[in-house]
Amino acid sequence: MVAYKSKVVERIQLPSRERRERALEQAGYNVFDLAAEDVFIDLLTDSGTGAMSDEQWAALLRGDEAYAGSRSFDELESAVGEVMGFSNVVPTHQGRGAENVLYGTLLEDGDVALNNTHFDTTRAHVANQGADPVDCPVARAHDLTVDGPFKGNFSLDRARSVVDDVGSERVPLVILTVTNNSAAGQPVSVENTRRVREFADEIDATFVIDACRFAENAAFVARREAEFADAEIGEIAREQLGYADALVMSGKKDGLVNAGGFVATDDEALFEKCKQRAILYEGFPTYGGMAGRDVAAMAVGLREAVEEAYVTDRIDQVRAFAAMLEDVGVPIYTPPGGHAVYLDAGATLPHLSPDEFPGQALVCALYREGGVRGVELGSFAFPGTDRPELVRLAVPRRTYHDEHLEHVAETAAAVLETRESIDGLEIASEPAVPELRHFTASLEPI
Ligand code: F0G
Repeated sequence: MVAYKSKVVERIQLPSRERRERALEQAGYNVFDLAAEDVFIDLLTDSGTGAMSDEQWAALLRGDEAYAGSRSFDELESAVGEVMGFSNVVPTHQGRGAENVLYGTLLEDGDVALNNTHFDTTRAHVANQGADPVDCPVARAHDLTVDGPFKGNFSLDRARSVVDDVGSERVPLVILTVTNNSAAGQPVSVENTRRVREFADEIDATFVIDACRFAENAAFVARREAEFADAEIGEIAREQLGYADALVMSGKKDGLVNAGGFVATDDEALFEKCKQRAILYEGFPTYGGMAGRDVAAMAVGLREAVEEAYVTDRIDQVRAFAAMLEDVGVPIYTPPGGHAVYLDAGATLPHLSPDEFPGQALVCALYREGGVRGVELGSFAFPGTDRPELVRLAVPRRTYHDEHLEHVAETAAAVLETRESIDGLEIASEPAVPELRHFTASLEPI
């Protein structure tokens, strides 16, 4: 059931085919280098790209810009307390700021951090402390077609074998990312969260939940985990998050804002350490790199994120989008996750080998055909790994209507029809750091 009507609109247009072709060439076949005004439907990310509600815009005007003791901070503190169940909050400019504050406090050189799957910035922040990020996804996470309610879960078997190898004293941190963005946005069950809590206790590690998409995860739990069939989204979220010692949060996802993030914890000693590090990298702990008005809007957004009508609309829109793509025969990762549909570029362009970057070729073809921007998450973004060749079409929150998504499905159908003629790509120039190459490298058709 649709939960919104439009109050403000933004003009968009599809540039001509010639312009799209030229823009792609000028961008070095890397869509991160396209001007946003040359993009018709922008599915690059769901991060910071959503539409705020009228209540959030009203909160912006009421934002308190005091350097210390801002009223907007009090509002955030009570929203985090009521929605997520944590009493201490350290605001940061976005999620990676929170990662720097928390992981910089918890990790040292030579440590190992375990995660169901590290998101790119999480991996980079763990590595930045001299620690080793190790992924523990369940075996079916990277199986594109097998069904399963919680393919985002953390594999305790894998984690135990890592601990057996390296010794528990080297593993001070266990992270659970909900939903699991790097495993196609798949959810994590509350039951799995309980097991991770027990495991963290066994090895005496701090248990952190990366809560970026906590409300979407709770919606899947309500639908798929029998114990929670009658529970409200807010209750599920509080229960799941409550198993953690601390949260890292990007407000740009389920905070429903365009900027902001935070660390939350009930551990007073950890809170004190985070505050000190936040002063160094983010700002005084009652604003932490955010404008007071953005803090105020995030406080409202967190409450809206757990409203049944919002989250149902959200999950159902992504599911309907996946169905539109399947209906026209596009191979996708199933079941669809919470924030995006992931296309199986390997199956779509079987004539291209991984070193011809089928995912990036598909990203370029979608832009060329319909002005649609997605992101490659395969051998271009993750060199040297054997990840599946995926293209993520992330759906910004409360932004696009079904008609926009129908245009994307029609575009994908047109690309499918001409797929044999789609050429592979090779790298023309790349930055010194290979892990981040997909943001800035340029390519050319083979
Ligand atoms: N953790 C997860 C699971 C994320 O998906 C992101 C961002 C971050 C942390 C970092 O948050 O961007 O506010 O600094 N994901 C975005 C994406 C960028 O497109 O998936 P941030």
